[in-house]
Amino acid sequence: MSGTSPLFDNIVNLSKRRGIVFPSAEIYGGFRSTYDYGPIGVLMLRNVKDAWWRSMVQLRQDVVGLDASILSPPQVWEASGHLKNFSDPLIDCKNCGSRHREDKLDDPNTCPTCGTKGQFTEARQFNLMFETQAGPVKDSGSVAYLRPETAQGMFINFANVLNTSRKKPPFGIAQIGKSFRNEITPGNFVFRTREFEQMEMEFFVPPEEAEKWYEYWCNERFNWYIEHGMNKENLKLRAHDSDELSHYSSGTSDVEYKFPWGWDELEGIANRGDFDLTQHANSSGNKLEYFDQATGIRYTPHVIEPAAGATRTMMAFLMDAYCEEDVDGDSRTVLKLHHRIAPYKVAVLPLSKKPELSEPAQKVYEMISARWMTDYDETQAIGKRYRRQDEIGTPFCVTVDFDTLEDSAVTVRDRDSMTQDRVSIDQVVNWLNDRLD
Ligand code: GAP
Repeated sequence: MSGTSPLFDNIVNLSKRRGIVFPSAEIYGGFRSTYDYGPIGVLMLRNVKDAWWRSMVQLRQDVVGLDASILSPPQVWEASGHLKNFSDPLIDCKNCGSRHREDKLDDPNTCPTCGTKGQFTEARQFNLMFETQAGPVKDSGSVAYLRPETAQGMFINFANVLNTSRKKPPFGIAQIGKSFRNEITPGNFVFRTREFEQMEMEFFVPPEEAEKWYEYWCNERFNWYIEHGMNKENLKLRAHDSDELSHYSSGTSDVEYKFPWGWDELEGIANRGDFDLTQHANSSGNKLEYFDQATGIRYTPHVIEPAAGATRTMMAFLMDAYCEEDVDGDSRTVLKLHHRIAPYKVAVLPLSKKPELSEPAQKVYEMISARWMTDYDETQAIGKRYRRQDEIGTPFCVTVDFDTLEDSAVTVRDRDSMTQDRVSIDQVVNWLNDRLD
């Protein structure tokens, strides 16, 4: 599957040109589908994560956060089933030597690299976890793994969180962080990489409530993308067939996005049952249960898990927001991003570099940047500066002009409608606050 299409190419080019995403180690020729997030991309990725955290933790009384370690001992992955099951079927083409994931081929008989038919090796199961050594001595006791999902951090801390947070089921533990998978075929820009960020939440519920909460989280998570500006027609919720389910899941639905190469996964919502807590309890010898004092019943909670990729979601937001428009015979590129996702919320643009304008403009910048991520740009014609901000999705441009010296007001220009409002300087933060909730 290749992502090449005009939209895909536009996003890759824009990302490089505007400092959103760079190929990693580029001065050494790049490194195996790894990417670095540039000055604009780091803001946007952070906003995706903050928007998720706001919805999943900040605005809820039933979810708490966690930041668990990336390095973990083999016992965790033995118990979780990853050492045995977390693998993809790897095949080689005997003609050209290229490697593929058998389950991802459009035609299982034809090599997508050289087109030769029927020349694949037998499929071998290839484990996706990165193995490393913790400490200076290389022996079997020092083997450690980079986590391939953040989820296990929540399961192995279940008792710690239960005992310290005064939460009881139904409640969730949320985490955002890096995960690592030695993918056989990374690709489609940041869609599938070996190092990526996940946003996951494990929601622990009484067993009889699992189905209800599964439905609830499927809807909540689908709506989250729409609330943050994605076009509904580019999103769908798809239930997995039984042969697609992961080793731990009794039911999974994916939120899928219509990428240039077709519908593909943004997030999975899984009903993991009591699989993980039971496995870790058996393996560690620790009880991982909840005792309900009101009923006197002790039970192992079931888990509903919404698991999203932050980097993949950021790419979907970029694609969904990308527009090219004709404005009075001129074309403009604009990212119509929801303001929570937009890298900068505001840009302050003095009409001229002269000190009589840059001094008040700096004061306006200081006022606004104390509250929101704000860009300051005084180079080139104002029209060009508007276009530069449109291209990175800045919702509002605040222009300081010579009239400002007379009326102590600025012009605020809206990215999407391009309408302009005159707003007094002492009201500008309130004015923006009404529109950047
Ligand atoms: N704990 C469950 C879990 O990890 P997953 O479907 O394997 O489930 C969840 O991963 C999400 O993480 C995916 O929906 C995707 O957005 C993201 N993801 C998984 N592998 C990825 C990769 N190689 N590169 C980028 N994002 C990835």
